[in-house]
Amino acid sequence: MNLVKRTKNTFALTTPLYYVNDLPHIGSAYTTIAADVVARFQRLLGHSVLLVTGTDEHGQKIQRTAEDKGLSPKNFCDRMSASFVSLWQLLNIKYDRFIRTTDPRHEALVKEFFLRVWSGGDIYLGQQKGWYCVSCEEFKEERELLEGYRCPIHTNKQAEWRDEQNYFFRLSKYQSQLEELYQSRPDFIQPESRRNEVVNFVKQGLQDFSISRLNVDWGFPVPTDPHHTLYVWFDALLGYVTALLEPDAQPTLENALSRWWPVNLHLIGKDILRFHAIYWPAMLMSAGLPVPERIFGHGFLTKDGQKMGKSLGNTLDPVALTANYGADAVRYYFLKEIEFGKDGDFNEVRFINVLNADLANDLGNLLNRTLNMVKKYCAGNIPSIASEDIPEDHPLKIIGSQLGKQVEIAYEALAFNQACEAVLKLVQASNKFIDEQAPWSLYKQGQQRATEEVLYAVLESVRLAAYLLSPVIPNISSDIYQQLGFGIDFNEQAQIASAAPFAIHSKWGLLTSKQTLGEPRPVFKRIQSLK
Ligand code: MSP
Repeated sequence: MNLVKRTKNTFALTTPLYYVNDLPHIGSAYTTIAADVVARFQRLLGHSVLLVTGTDEHGQKIQRTAEDKGLSPKNFCDRMSASFVSLWQLLNIKYDRFIRTTDPRHEALVKEFFLRVWSGGDIYLGQQKGWYCVSCEEFKEERELLEGYRCPIHTNKQAEWRDEQNYFFRLSKYQSQLEELYQSRPDFIQPESRRNEVVNFVKQGLQDFSISRLNVDWGFPVPTDPHHTLYVWFDALLGYVTALLEPDAQPTLENALSRWWPVNLHLIGKDILRFHAIYWPAMLMSAGLPVPERIFGHGFLTKDGQKMGKSLGNTLDPVALTANYGADAVRYYFLKEIEFGKDGDFNEVRFINVLNADLANDLGNLLNRTLNMVKKYCAGNIPSIASEDIPEDHPLKIIGSQLGKQVEIAYEALAFNQACEAVLKLVQASNKFIDEQAPWSLYKQGQQRATEEVLYAVLESVRLAAYLLSPVIPNISSDIYQQLGFGIDFNEQAQIASAAPFAIHSKWGLLTSKQTLGEPRPVFKRIQSLK
């Protein structure tokens, strides 16, 4: 198969394909927000971007849940899948593809892939004995289980004993190839701690894993033996490939892989690392296909310091949270407050405090009061100052001149909190600057030029901050840009790179007196504190 070499100008990334046994939870929202921020940032850079998300709809867990609800699996999946689509709309996620693993085109692709691996001799029939956690859809080692054979992740669920004939994938054959991959491409698995986890696991020796089930109907039949149903993970991982098909293309591997494969990034949570960093590359190697460029496993979210779960009754509903506080607020909190890759916590008081401090006070008030001063002291026009005339040692120019590069590096590294913090430093320095310079007294003293210089430098800093935060808070950034007289909407993703190219808009000093300022209005309303 001839894979067209991907040009540097494209960037494809995926979220996990979410199980539809339940409504979307905050964990799914977290990965998807992060993926959307990466996609938006890559679009600013002018890349052609493909953001893939979707739902994973086969397997025993979903079959059972549908049965419990008295629905046919397909009917149940249709309803549940729609709830993901509507949450992504609410959260302002601009995805390009939404793949459902029940899509008939997916079956054709899975079949072709299976047959390739089959003809390579990597699939054989064997006896599977072991403890299976239906909620994880994964066999567990007995030593991993808690008392009463309970799953360490789904602590209220017992693993089930299985002893049946299954087809196996020869994972053990790929041990050294995988080790070589991890060694030659140290960035393949990130962050470093997850990479070490995988490397250590593989070092202990890999065992073949079963890729078919006997007593599950809800899935694709094994192409060479329809009494068996394909294991949900074998089919789900291939969803990433089916998603790459152009809408009108024939469902063949060649078509699916021609433009966007290998994808640049699989974003996942830490619990599904082995599937992505071990099983998936081995499956691809077996089919003679290139492996993805990078896999990033983020941490888990807790609420008020506790593991979230239905049994604990402390789940955090992403729909209610977003409906209450807005998409930008939710996006900002999770990305600014938690180091991506580490576990992080949600606490509503902290949530409100962070948003009020950063978005309402530091950023929003700064814009508002500066625009009002421009109205009063400069007849409502951006002062006619050329950024070249502002000395190089101007405190805001110093920070602003390096910020674009610094934030670019942070986004590339998925260090979202660092990107946000770096921008916030400029915003905070601007607040300090305006307080120290006191343009209101400069104006009173008749120092018009000095007044204008202060206001220009601050407005320009707010503009730059809005631009660099636009992947995270696109609505607020658009609002700021509009008040600064730009007809730019950061949600217009198709045109964003031509309307506001990174090379130009990420530099301090872009604002000119040609811009006609809009009416000042608050960009983020202060949230009332909880009682
Ligand atoms: N269907 C599989 C993925 C197949 S990908 C080909 C799956 N689905 S899932 O819906 O159970 O989980 C999706 C994602 O949510 C995972 O990345 C998981 O890490 C993440 N999270 C689940 N609970 C979480 C938290 N409490 N916190 C953060 N993310 C968590 O696995």
